[in-house]
Amino acid sequence: MKQFFSVHDIPSLSEAVKTALACKTNPFQNEALGKHKVIGLVFLNPSLRTRMSTQKAAMQLGMQVMVMNMTSDGWALETKDGVVMDGNTAEHIREAAAVMGEYCDILGLRSFPGLQDATEDYSEELFQKFAQYCGKPVVSLESATRHPLQSFTDLLTIIEKGNYHYDEVKKQYIPQEMKPKVVLTWAPHVKALPQAVPNSFAEWMIQAEKDGLLDFVITHPEGYALKEEFTQGATITTNQKEALQDADFIYVKNWSSYENYGQITCTDASWMLTLDHLKETNQAKVMHCLPVRRDLVIAAEVLDSEHAIVIEEAGNRVWAAQAVLQEMLKNK
Ligand code: CP
Repeated sequence: MKQFFSVHDIPSLSEAVKTALACKTNPFQNEALGKHKVIGLVFLNPSLRTRMSTQKAAMQLGMQVMVMNMTSDGWALETKDGVVMDGNTAEHIREAAAVMGEYCDILGLRSFPGLQDATEDYSEELFQKFAQYCGKPVVSLESATRHPLQSFTDLLTIIEKGNYHYDEVKKQYIPQEMKPKVVLTWAPHVKALPQAVPNSFAEWMIQAEKDGLLDFVITHPEGYALKEEFTQGATITTNQKEALQDADFIYVKNWSSYENYGQITCTDASWMLTLDHLKETNQAKVMHCLPVRRDLVIAAEVLDSEHAIVIEEAGNRVWAAQAVLQEMLKNK
């Protein structure tokens, strides 16, 4: 694997999950693989889970880890070509990425969208330039439009918590009884947030549905449809109550509008997930990528209940990252 940017970089979801769960069972099985190898984790935005889980995964594979927080420790980056750099930017991404490629065997990059210009954000130009100029395998630590390490984690958490067995002949997880119903629901927020997590979650769940692993439904208020390329094939409704009926897993996330790009057009607090919302579910397990704002996005009564699996979900970030880095190291 030369790049981990989206679900399209994974040949088989079931095989990827199996690898990640094997890492969880035996974290140090491949600790010789990364010996004398260096990973650089480059952050243009804040992070707790992605930074620590990817660092831990790399260390368990025997790698050395360098973390670069560009906004506090690096030179101000210029990302556009053809500009006279007589403003605030001090270093062009062409040189910065190339230099980091000199120091590292694998690089990770986190860069959020500006949420001003959909065409610019959805071009993923920054990520593509970084990958091109560094010349090394690159893992997305969340880009403008996707968060694949999070979505991989989410799928493995659903398979781990659901009722599945692995079929050695088909090389695929099979639901033991009914396929679980997985619902992605929008929730309110006071800040305009990227669409990266829900875009990515939708892509992974749609592929999982095609693989016969689960049934997937998206619910959001009017005006919050995600870009169609991420949701093709999904069942989508603006009726949250109907969507949550009989749900086994509920993935809660706020995102800003794609139609009115980067805007908050709904503040309806009734979309916040409460215990009342869970009454007609199948004792649903509640997921969120974190960080989560209590009593705004999800009620504290839910986060503090047995429904919430957000901490185990965050714990699983290590195993998704380790599976990806392991494949990159093997294929180098
Ligand atoms: N879920 C997630 O990516 O968390 P961080 O932003 O803290 O890395």
